[in-house]
Parts: sequence; C-alpha cells; structure tokens
Amino acid sequence: MRLKDKKAIVTGAGQGIGRSIALKMAQEGADVVIAEMNPDTGAQTARAVEALGRKAMSVAVDVANQKQVQDLVVQALKAWKRIDILVNNAGFDRPAGLLKVKEEDWDAVLGVHLKGTLNCIQAITPHMVENGYGKIINLSSVWGRRGAVSEISYSTAKAGIIGLTKSVARELGKYQINVNVVLPGFILTPTVSKMADKYRTMIIENTPLKRAGQPEEVANVVAFLASDEASFMTGAEVTVSGGWHI
Ligand SMILES: NC(=O)c1ccc[n+]([C@@H]2O[C@H](COP(=O)([O-])OP(=O)(O)OC[C@H]3O[C@@H](n4cnc5c(N)ncnc54)[C@H](O)[C@@H]3O)[C@@H](O)[C@H]2O)c1
Repeated sequence: MRLKDKKAIVTGAGQGIGRSIALKMAQEGADVVIAEMNPDTGAQTARAVEALGRKAMSVAVDVANQKQVQDLVVQALKAWKRIDILVNNAGFDRPAGLLKVKEEDWDAVLGVHLKGTLNCIQAITPHMVENGYGKIINLSSVWGRRGAVSEISYSTAKAGIIGLTKSVARELGKYQINVNVVLPGFILTPTVSKMADKYRTMIIENTPLKRAGQPEEVANVVAFLASDEASFMTGAEVTVSGGWHI
C-alpha cells in the first residue's frame, strides 16, 4: 500500500497502459480520477477501481482542450480536496513519413501528447505548489529518444515530452514536486495488438528480453515513481522496453 489514501489523476485510463496504471494505483491504496475521452471505457475502469475498494471518478475529457482540463481539475479538487499524483498517459499515433505528414495529423498528435501534457501540468501545478507535494509522471516512448521511421509526428511529440519533463522538473523541484518520464517500448495494449505480425516479430527480435511487454509492467514502474520510494528522483527518463532501443 505505497499510495495509501493518495489521490491520483490518470489520463487516458479507459484502456491499455492507462487502465493498468489506474488499477495498480488502486491496489496500492490510491483513489483515482479517470480522465478519459471515451466515457464508456472510462466508466468501466472506474468500476474496476471501485471493485478494488477505492474511490473512482470518471470524467470525460479531451486533454488537448485546455478549458476541459481546467474544469476537470476544479471538479476533482472540489470532490477530493487534494490531488497528489498526475499521470499524463493519454495519446494516440498517426504514423506517417516525413513527406506524408498531414497538417491535421501533426496538430492532433502534438495536441494530445504535448499540449495535453502541458495542459494537465499547468492546471494542477498551483494546487501542488500550495501543498508542497506532488508526483507527475509523463508517458513518452523509446521513439521519443531514438526517433523512428514513418513516425514523424509521434516521435517528435514524445521527444517534446522528455524536454517538457526536464524543464518542469527544474522549475517545480523547489516545491518538492517530482516530475519524471517513462519511456515504454513495445507493450501489448489493445491499440498495439492490431499491429501486423511482421512488425511485431521484427521488434521482438530486436528486444533483448525477446518478448513484448505487458501494460502492468509499465504500471508497476509508474506506481513506483508516484510513491515516496522515488522521493529523490526528478527529471529522470525511465525506460521500460525489455531493452529495445537502449
Ligand atoms: N503500447 C505501447 O507499445 C506504447 C509504447 C510507447 C509509448 N506508449 C504510450 O503510452 C500511452 C498509452 O498507450 P496505450 O498503448 O495504452 O494506448 P491506447 O490507445 O491503448 O489507450 C490510450 C487511451 O487514451 C485515450 N485518449 C486518446 N486521446 C485522448 C484525449 N485527447 N484525451 C483523453 N483521453 C484520450 C483513449 O481513448 C484510450 O483510452 C500513450 O501515451 C502511448 O503513446 C505506448
């Protein structure tokens, strides 16, 4: 129970890694706000959190929309009085090579990952500063550090999240707010499972542990970073990739 009675917001927690993070946090004793664009999957995760004996609140929100994010934080604070943990996990990919990137896809991908992460951090910062306590964990990707062919928008957005994490960690450190970034490799979530077998095989061959990861294996690391066991970590890039792209 490393997160006993902590209050967390997890974005994109309707499925995949975000859902696993929400459930892991609940298992560790936290109450969880599910900030999810899809109200149906958000409600399902909320029910699963409650089944673990913790409080849950499902709020339909598009993290790329600053006003919706601000309203979400106001609603969460009104209900629970404090928020200790923010996990910026929501995201999607619109793969395309350099000359095929469409303006609308670039804007959407940078919008959800980079602007979405900024929106959530900006909305929660005054409260965490006032409390002199906070844990912010952002989800990047190994492609954010290494780049990837035909992943121009996504890799750029994920690289931006690493830069944003380190800059915010420098600004908020004096308030005892820890800000870290997790770089997953190939993790078997509903979205990724649709990938063609030939790509999946290629990635696994290039992964030293010779397998894909499970969402829970990312959630375990995020929960550690959200706990006081990681109290002297800030601005850290933590790779959870089975060794892919180390
Ligand atoms: N799965 C992987 O292999 C992998 C690898 C590296 C990084 N990541 C990152 O981890 C995070 C989770 O990945 P996943 O595979 O679980 O994704 P997923 O597609 O399974 O789930 C993403 C969730 O985010 C929600 N979402 C999307 N846009 C949103 C928005 N604008 N506002 C609120 N919610 C929104 C979706 O509805 C969905 O429930 C993402 O940031 C992703 O880029 C995943």
